[in-house]
Amino acid sequence: MTRLNCLLDHQDYLAYQEMIDQLEKSRQFCKHGFDHGLNVARIGYAYILEQGGQVLSKEVVYAAAFLHDIGRWVEYKSGEDHAEASAKLALPILEDCKFNSEETKIIVEGIREHRRHSSDHLSLLGRALALADDWARDCRHCSTQKQCYKYNHAMSLITY
Ligand SMILES: [Fe+2]
Ligand SMILES: [Fe+2]
Repeated sequence: MTRLNCLLDHQDYLAYQEMIDQLEKSRQFCKHGFDHGLNVARIGYAYILEQGGQVLSKEVVYAAAFLHDIGRWVEYKSGEDHAEASAKLALPILEDCKFNSEETKIIVEGIREHRRHSSDHLSLLGRALALADDWARDCRHCSTQKQCYKYNHAMSLITY
């Protein structure tokens, strides 16, 4: 997956992840480092394979998963919704790594949708990211369940 490796080595991706890691150092809830992107990628791609029918390439799904939260630092600094910020920041990275216009459209749409409810009318990738985002968290064993606004919602979706 040459283009995915390009993305993971891209100086902007690395700089955004570094800022997020710094800003989340004392965060008590789930963090948004490389491992979160990897978990969302694996789970999201498994979900898409389970759906059958319309299939997106693994590289497209993984690219979307690794980019879906790169705008978290923007939200921490300015309050702008990170789904929208991540979609904007993803564009030049996708272009540099040679994703074509159709793939870029699908990825950016999925990133924009990833915070919506999975039962909304979403693209296949948007629904996969929204579900994988919750399934990627170990809510059952989390010590901050009572304080977390996502706990009840995420637990209602867990299917393991
Ligand atoms: Fe997010
Ligand atoms: Fe996420």
